[in-house]
Amino acid sequence: MSERQIQIVVARADNGVIGKDGKLPWHLPADLKHFKRLTLGTPMIMGRKTFESLPGLLPDRRHIILTRDRSWSAPGVEAVHSVDEALQRAPSNSISVVGGAEIFALLMPCATDFYLTEVHCDADGDTSMPAPDSADWREVSREHHLAADGRPAFSFVHFIRRR
Ligand SMILES: NC(=O)c1ccc[n+]([C@@H]2O[C@H](COP(=O)([O-])OP(=O)(O)OC[C@H]3O[C@@H](n4cnc5c(N)ncnc54)[C@H](OP(=O)(O)O)[C@@H]3O)[C@@H](O)[C@H]2O)c1
Repeated sequence: MSERQIQIVVARADNGVIGKDGKLPWHLPADLKHFKRLTLGTPMIMGRKTFESLPGLLPDRRHIILTRDRSWSAPGVEAVHSVDEALQRAPSNSISVVGGAEIFALLMPCATDFYLTEVHCDADGDTSMPAPDSADWREVSREHHLAADGRPAFSFVHFIRRR
């Protein structure tokens, strides 16, 4: 258990917003590619609402969906009903936690790595999450991308948990 990497992967506006009307508030193709690079081959844990916001199953990744509804199911996914069950279903060395806000809050205490895309705008939205607390997280890399094509500037930042 102690050796495994549990990575939070999220894009967050400077004002904390991560979602709007059940979707992402922006379209950032470079961030979608970054998300794919980070999550490919890892089991992904997500909330039922985030799963329902996806266009479909994401290839080459297991989808472990947290829901309280024991009758809920969808083709190609594994429904689970608690954090412990989600983690037991994902015994691999690297696990991705991909949202939304409720699921980030639940799994944050278990996470070892935090991959944050800082989206440099104040986004309009209805779902937010806090920035990584510097008492818990140490920044180890940062890559900045300028605003282009009407899209905001953004930064890929990697934090690891302080020991
Ligand atoms: N910017 C980003 O990187 C990013 C990433 C992911 C999502 N998002 C956005 O975030 C929004 C969705 O986030 P959200 O916080 O509203 O929803 P969410 O975290 O995706 O899902 C919430 C659902 O998870 C289930 N759940 C929560 N706690 C649980 C527990 N303790 N045990 C079992 N199941 C539990 C419940 O499902 P049931 O209702 O079925 O019981 C709950 O309604 C969308 O706008 C999405 O686009 C943004």
